[in-house]
Amino acid sequence: MTIPAAIYDQPMTRARTITATDTRTPNHVAIIMDGNGRWARKRNLPRVAGHQAGTNNLRRILRACVDQGIKILTLYAFSTENWRRPEDEVNGLMRILEAVIERELDELDRSGVQIRHIGRMERVPAGLQAKIKSAVAQTSHNDRLILNVALNYGGRAEIVDAVRAMLTEGLHPDFIDEDTISRYLYTCGLPDPDLIIRTSGEYRSSNFLIWQGAYSEFYVTDVYWPDFDESELKKAIEQFNKRDRRFGGIAK
Ligand code: IPE
Ligand code: IPE
Ligand code: MG
Repeated sequence: MTIPAAIYDQPMTRARTITATDTRTPNHVAIIMDGNGRWARKRNLPRVAGHQAGTNNLRRILRACVDQGIKILTLYAFSTENWRRPEDEVNGLMRILEAVIERELDELDRSGVQIRHIGRMERVPAGLQAKIKSAVAQTSHNDRLILNVALNYGGRAEIVDAVRAMLTEGLHPDFIDEDTISRYLYTCGLPDPDLIIRTSGEYRSSNFLIWQGAYSEFYVTDVYWPDFDESELKKAIEQFNKRDRRFGGIAK
């Protein structure tokens, strides 16, 4: 499949003008992009080919998110546990991520996407670190869509980092409440995800947004990430729109 170069160029009016019918569009969508390995195995390809196919899928999903009026998209690209994988796969994946930033950055910038990184920079190869930092700096003024890239991200590590920062800054226990903790997380200042999508059929969070996802709606599909297209995203949002979010209250 060829993807048109100017994929982000079409007018993104819904991102700015939210009409009455759009009010249930999730503001913040987070995706556990799983199933690259199984996608490749089904085709007798190496796992890295699955990761390549997975990153090739990013463009159309980003565009679809903007079209749907989603304001924040958080993508789980690499977990703190994924270092357990064979070195070849990890290195291949890091190289692919570096190439994808290089290839997509200017287009994303022109489309008004603000790139952020959530996770720990340590252990990330120096070349990829540099690419991430310059992508974040170049796009920091954009406001059409915030794209959080969760790379070397773990929800538990995030909480550890928050606790360390609070102690380092000498916060008094009396001043620590849930809002304080939220402010010390990597997602500081952003609303919690409304919808967490997981592709490829696993029913677990795998350490993704464990604090922020306390009241997120979950949507799991059997579709592997490289095959998760605009129509699959639409299905997830339609499902979300049918949910009754209670936040501990009573049914409508
Ligand atoms: C998701 O696909 C990508 C990463 C975790 C980096 P997987 O590589 O986990 O694919 P499966 O789960 O083995 O199919
Ligand atoms: C979660 O997928 C991490 C990413 C998608 C980046 P995994 O494939 O690592 O999760 P588990 O091991 O099946 O729980
Ligand atoms: Mg997996």
